[in-house]
Amino acid sequence: MPGTLQPPALSRIVQTQIASPSPIRQIMKMAERQNIIDLGLNPDEVISFGGGWVNHAAPEAFREAYEAIARDPALFHQSGGYSATLGMDECREQIAALEAHLFGMRAITAANIAIGLGSTQLTHDLMRALLNPGDAILLLDPTYANYEGQLAFAVGGVKIATLPVLDPETWAYLPRTEPDRVIEQFNRVWDQERPRLVLFCAPDNPTSQIVPQPIVDAIMARAARDHAYVAIDFAYKCQYFAPPPAYYAWSPEEYPNLIAIHSNSKWARGLGRRLGWIEAARGVIDGLERVQQCSILCPDTLQQMTLTRYLKAAIADGSLARYVAETNAAYQRAAGATIAAVDRHLGLPRLEPSGGLYTVVDVRRDGDAFVREALRETGVLVIPGRGFGRTLANGVRISFGPLVHDLAKIDEGLARLGKWMHQ
Ligand SMILES: Cc1ncc(COP(=O)(O)O)c(C=O)c1O
Repeated sequence: MPGTLQPPALSRIVQTQIASPSPIRQIMKMAERQNIIDLGLNPDEVISFGGGWVNHAAPEAFREAYEAIARDPALFHQSGGYSATLGMDECREQIAALEAHLFGMRAITAANIAIGLGSTQLTHDLMRALLNPGDAILLLDPTYANYEGQLAFAVGGVKIATLPVLDPETWAYLPRTEPDRVIEQFNRVWDQERPRLVLFCAPDNPTSQIVPQPIVDAIMARAARDHAYVAIDFAYKCQYFAPPPAYYAWSPEEYPNLIAIHSNSKWARGLGRRLGWIEAARGVIDGLERVQQCSILCPDTLQQMTLTRYLKAAIADGSLARYVAETNAAYQRAAGATIAAVDRHLGLPRLEPSGGLYTVVDVRRDGDAFVREALRETGVLVIPGRGFGRTLANGVRISFGPLVHDLAKIDEGLARLGKWMHQ
């Protein structure tokens, strides 16, 4: 009878993934407006440290590039056309120029670049291009919470091996405090699991730490010897609070097993104007082209045209480097304000950000329960750590990204949390 029929079942993988929502997605649902009202709170008074997004303005010249293209009928018409599956050649050339200009990368060309619709799509398609069922992947613990689901959707039956980088007892970031121990453990896990791919972020979400050069040297040497890939998720590459390590300038022409995943989301505040790219050896780029033919057909032409136009001018006149430096200074100020407020109001172990948008705080009890109670009692939202890995089960992630220009609110939010915790 019409109206009573159930639709046929969804795929097993989708059913499994729907049935096991991550703690992060659960808490973000809990923070939805109606839920906040149901909790008896005023949504306008909620202070959120939950969002993994930036809140500075995109470069004005970038905005003007959109304006110029939209104003010109011929260019606007062109922006409605398909581009090549790997992106427009001019845009790939400008991205190579950006890496040379900002990071001193040598020997990178357009042929090493695949443009896509942001790093989420690209990471998924990269997994598709590199991994077979039964392969192992090595992730750090903690790490970006989306990788697990992306792997499940991209390739069934991939084994996830982990390398702990946070000591849950001392809250030390081990690659810096005990590099030899980390390398030893890395080699042990490697011998056991023989991963085909190592994937980590620099700087990291959720810890905002940058994996130090000696650790990356050890990972690269072992991976190169055993014909495995090393992928670095550089979603926050332009956000660093001290000179970045040498591997920020490594090119896939020099290191054929290196893959760098990039995004316009954070540095240029292009989160919803979807554009990202992958830098890799030409063989990997060929593989990605085949996958993208089936996943996106081509990246967004308007985003590519504007990025090309903006980069060409902003590299030539030096405004790109100035913009990145000014943006960095703003996030460094917000990071400083966050750490000072954590110390003042919470007095709990935390990590000092080396870049990015976050810190993680040891709340010394189950992070999921802490976050739920904190939201209910104080109207302050932080993110439970467990979704990022076991080492962070008693921790929370605090994001200062959305509040980059509202340092007073950062202090107020952490003061509210501290008052509740110490009452
Ligand atoms: C480490 C990391 N990678 C990738 C992404 C997603 O970036 P994009 O907007 O390019 O898909 C995020 C977003 O928060 C992230 O933190």
